[in-house]
Amino acid sequence: MKKKLIPLIALLLAVVLLGVFVAHSTNLPESGTPDELVQAVLLENQCLACHNPDAPVPFYAKIPVAGKLIAYDMFAGLRSINLNAPLINLQQGKPVADSVREKLLRVAEKNSMPPLQYTAVHWKSWLTEAERQAIIDWAMYARQKAAQGLPSAAEFKKEPVQPLPDKIDINPQKAALGKILYFDTRLSGDNTLSCASCHDLKTGGVDRSKYSKGIKGQFGDINAPTVFNAALNFCQFWDGRAKNLEEQAGGPPLNPVEMGSKDWDQIISKLDKDAALKAQFAKVYPDGITAKNITNAIAEFELTLLTPDSKFDRYLKGDKAAMTKDEIEGYELFKEHGCATCHAGVNLGGSSFEYMNGDYFAHRGNIAKPDLGRLNQTKSPVDEHKFKTPTLRNVAVTAPYYHDGSVKTLKEATELMLKHQSHTSLPDSDVDKIVKFLEALTGKYEGELLK
Ligand code: HEC
Ligand code: HEC
Ligand code: HEC
Repeated sequence: MKKKLIPLIALLLAVVLLGVFVAHSTNLPESGTPDELVQAVLLENQCLACHNPDAPVPFYAKIPVAGKLIAYDMFAGLRSINLNAPLINLQQGKPVADSVREKLLRVAEKNSMPPLQYTAVHWKSWLTEAERQAIIDWAMYARQKAAQGLPSAAEFKKEPVQPLPDKIDINPQKAALGKILYFDTRLSGDNTLSCASCHDLKTGGVDRSKYSKGIKGQFGDINAPTVFNAALNFCQFWDGRAKNLEEQAGGPPLNPVEMGSKDWDQIISKLDKDAALKAQFAKVYPDGITAKNITNAIAEFELTLLTPDSKFDRYLKGDKAAMTKDEIEGYELFKEHGCATCHAGVNLGGSSFEYMNGDYFAHRGNIAKPDLGRLNQTKSPVDEHKFKTPTLRNVAVTAPYYHDGSVKTLKEATELMLKHQSHTSLPDSDVDKIVKFLEALTGKYEGELLK
């Protein structure tokens, strides 16, 4: 048996080595903008063969064993990153998602794509030094572009994470109305709950429970994320079912296990009896109190829920003394172990859906519908167990963690991420440093540090 394998292995090795030599002809155009060059690299090196939902299944996928491996690579590749939308953005000169930029940079730095078994049979897909460099140069250019207008110091413009803007321009009258509504229990069927019941601004914008308690003592089946900085997420909810804050705010009032109102008419008729509120509405919205205007005002208020001035933000703004040595080392470890590929950008998250390793669920047990994540919206198998990456801002004050609220401490949350996302483990002292860094992400609301 073993003897039979030797020639086979030798042949494979020869193919790979030959491939390395042949492949070193570049697909790179001689000149172009960073956006144009990176497009050429992605298109000419067959990246789309595994990172595009419409990729044709190659003829050799029918071969037993090898075919299965290829089918798995295509599935896992697409689950990991879909390059369709980023390529369209690049073509149109628009920025790509923070997480896409960071992931491309990481695979270029590690020279890990395409997978070895693929380059072995597709010699031209092997990335040359110049092609890898083109991805790296583009990523640095894209980071700087993303940092434009943000308050980071010049030396930190190329960081994967950026400080929060101090504020977003808003319509103050709408936001003032939204603030009233946010704390208004009349949005609930029995006048007992407001948005603040589950997203208390004094407790990190969450309820600090595994699951939230809704109307008539009923419990939901998923952990409540924070409303602080939610405005910066690319969509809302763990499974992304609301495309923005306005759409999101339309959900809880009529949700039977949350605020449990019968319909919008019930809410509007209650609010209509409040003459002062009615007059205030009329000033801002000519058509008065409607479902659309209620959610629009709440969303405007949520734009004010930014928490600038964390230690980390002050550091990025140039105040070197704002962070301790351990916290800075924690940030370096955070980057080194790939945490900043998903928890990237201004919000340290909220820019993509990411797969939670099946092992996590196997270990935890009791898989329920909310655990299917993004699949619940798209019905697509590549979206199973994918969740919107949560922001890590203020994460020290928003326990428990994960969509299932099953993780009690930041240390455990970090260890599980190292295991399931970074596929590694670190000595305790390093984990502690990452935790210290995460604790330095607590920011201020109305001038006061969140507690
Ligand atoms: C044969 C299929 C295949 C091809 C071709 C391929 N990939 Fe991948 N790619 C994968 C798989 C599988 C993964 C997931 C790896 C994992 O989860 O460990 C992946 C993951 C990635 C990721 C995400 C990594 C991360 O840290 O999350 C990026 C970015 C990526 N590939 C870029 C590329 C680029 C750029 C090319 C072309 C140069 C390419 N891939 C070609 C299969 C492929
Ligand atoms: C009964 C508790 C409860 C009430 C009341 C409630 N929420 Fe939530 N909220 C949750 C839960 C649980 C989730 C997560 C649901 C999911 O992702 O499927 C959530 C999600 C959100 C999100 C998405 C954040 C993100 O990162 O995806 C925002 C924003 C939000 N709520 C704002 C509001 C507003 C505004 C109101 C009032 C109109 C409100 N909530 C009322 C429990 C509640
Ligand atoms: C491949 C993308 C990815 C990488 C890499 C990654 N994370 Fe996460 N992170 C996620 C997702 C998705 C969740 C939500 C998981 C869930 O709810 O089941 C999450 C959740 C968390 C949470 C809990 C936040 C909350 O509010 O519930 C923390 C803390 C965290 N990550 C820290 C880290 C650290 C530290 C690293 C590096 C060791 C890391 N992450 C690497 C995607 C990622």
